[in-house]
Parts: sequence; structure tokens; C-alpha cells
Amino acid sequence: MSSFVEIKELEKTFRGGGLAGKGSQSFTAVDRVSFNIESNTIFGLVGESGCGKTTLSRSVLYLDPPTSGQIIIDGTDLSGLSPSDLRAFRKKIQIVFQDPNSSLNPKMSIENSIKEGLQNIRYAAGAPDRKRKIDTRVDELLDLVGITPEHKKRYPHEFSGGQKQRIVIARALAVEPDFLILDEPVSNLDVSIQAQIINLLLELKQRLSLTYLFISHDLNLVSYLSDRIAVMYKGRIVECGSVDDIMRRPVHPYTMKLFSSIPGVSRIDDGTEQVFHVEEDGYCEGLPAGYCFHSGNPAAEQQVLEINDGHSVACFKI
Ligand SMILES: Nc1ncnc2c1ncn2[C@@H]1O[C@H](COP(=O)(O)OP(=O)(O)OP(=O)(O)O)[C@@H](O)[C@H]1O
Ligand SMILES: [Mg+2]
Repeated sequence: MSSFVEIKELEKTFRGGGLAGKGSQSFTAVDRVSFNIESNTIFGLVGESGCGKTTLSRSVLYLDPPTSGQIIIDGTDLSGLSPSDLRAFRKKIQIVFQDPNSSLNPKMSIENSIKEGLQNIRYAAGAPDRKRKIDTRVDELLDLVGITPEHKKRYPHEFSGGQKQRIVIARALAVEPDFLILDEPVSNLDVSIQAQIINLLLELKQRLSLTYLFISHDLNLVSYLSDRIAVMYKGRIVECGSVDDIMRRPVHPYTMKLFSSIPGVSRIDDGTEQVFHVEEDGYCEGLPAGYCFHSGNPAAEQQVLEINDGHSVACFKI
């Protein structure tokens, strides 16, 4: 059976200067990325700043169409949709960004922010009881994310960062999506608030049978939430597997480097500390004979090798 989300050989290249500041040369921010997400699961995407996580998520939504590759969601190939069909289809997919301030209009009450989505989508103009239904739905959505509906006339600046992110989540849920892309949704929040938002997201996933692509630079957080994890480095997925594969049996040197950046954590390991020797060259432990991580040949093509069922790494054939 096919997966709910299928990303195949996705590539996004920016031409000329742009943010990457690479002069007139083109710059590949997402490089032949492939992964699948099963329905009602959380897929974690982890990697350092600038590795291409946001570019990938914008491409998956077709906000910035990919240069090449395929995105199939719930059996629909997005490249085959007309602009109006794509707009309609996007209601199945919503994205929550890192900074709630950039997602909420400061001049609009939170009630109106949420209504904006509802009016166009769920209730046709002229339908009987339309106003009452919209009001009830706004209250339901706020209640769902733990915001007191009585506060709905207030403006974004009257809420804390965590509350604002709850409101952004409520607005994303207004269109009843199946799939949420969460791009560093808690990175701007205090640690204590982060946990509350994470728990809310987990609860919503269960209640509404949602599927998440959860993006973060924090491997610890991603491992707490996810069913499967992909590690991204310089536009490529260098390792992908179950949480157990990545946390207990990591193979790629870059995944291991991510562990060393988690304070006090080497990896989950039944109480015993593991020491990784990450060598820049020739580190091939975990790979079958004939493969290596550093080919020494700049023209060599990386490939994705499945080393165990569902556990793959990017490497070179010697
Ligand atoms: N519109 C654009 N034009 C040119 N280059 C871009 C554009 N958007 C992003 N880039 C470049 O693509 C690369 C990946 O950026 P992206 O924002 O996807 O990274 P990220 O992993 O989300 O980083 P962060 O963790 O800081 O959010 C960066 O080098 C960035 O400068
Ligand atoms: Mg980003």
C-alpha cells in the first residue's frame, strides 16, 4: 500500500544571487530528497540551520514549486494539479512556522484571524445559520488548543508567545487538514512553554488523526515526538530510519555529530555511555564492504543505501 505522503527525488535549485549569496551560480538547497510518511504518524526532519529544511517544506506545499521530483499526497501527484485544484488541495495540508508573530495579523482580533479561513472554506455564503455556525466553530477551535473562547476579541499582542502559537495552530486546524507541516514550531518559545505546545500537538494528532512533518534542529526533541526521523545535511537526507535506528544504531558520521551537540546526551543506550569516534575520512563502520562516507573524489555521486529494513544512509560506492 502506498504511503500517505511520498516525496520522490525532490530538488530545489535557486538561480543566481538570492539569499544564499552564491553569486550568479545556481544553488541546490534541496538535493534529491526522498522519503515517505505513513498516515497518522510523525516524521521528524532534523538538521542544522541552513541545511534546507524550510525550503523543503515550502516545496512540499508547492508554495515554492520544486525544480524537479515528485510529491504525492494521499494518492494525488501535486505536479499534475491546476492552480485552482492546487489551492483547493492545499486545505488538506497546513504549515505552522517558528514565529507566530509573522503568522498573525497584529491588526486583527484572533476571532477574525480564525474566521478568515473558515468563511471561505467551510460555510458557503448564504447558507442558513452561517454566522452562528462560524461563531461556534471559532469557539470550538480555541477550546481545542486551550485558549479561553471569551478572549477571542483580543489582539495578538495581548497574548504570550505560547498562546499565540496555540492560536496559529487553531487557525491551521480551521480548514480540517489531514497533514500538518510544523517548521520549528517551538524554537521561539521558552523551554517550559515548549513542552506544553509539544503536548498539545501530540494530543491533537491523536484526537484528529493527523499526520505531521515535524522540523527541528533539535535531535532530542525530534526523537521524543517522532515515529521516523530523517537527518538532513547540506540539502540531502544523510540518514533515515525509525527512532530506534537513529537513536540507538546511528551510522552516518553527521548523525553522530548531532548527538555530540546535545548537552549531556550521547544517545539513548540503556544507561551506558557510548563514545563515538567520528573521523573525517574513511569512517565506514556500519556500511557493507565497498561503500564509504567520504569518497575523496569531488565528482563521485552519493547514493542512498538501505542498510537494514527501513534504515538508509547516504554514502559512496568505492
Ligand atoms: N529564495 C531563496 N533564494 C536563494 N537561496 C535561498 C532561498 N531560500 C533559501 N535559500 C538558501 O537555501 C539554504 C537553505 O535555507 P533554509 O531556510 O531552507 O534552511 P533551514 O534548514 O530552514 O534553516 P533554519 O534552521 O535556519 O531555518 C540556505 O543556504 C538559504 O540561504
Ligand atoms: Mg528554516
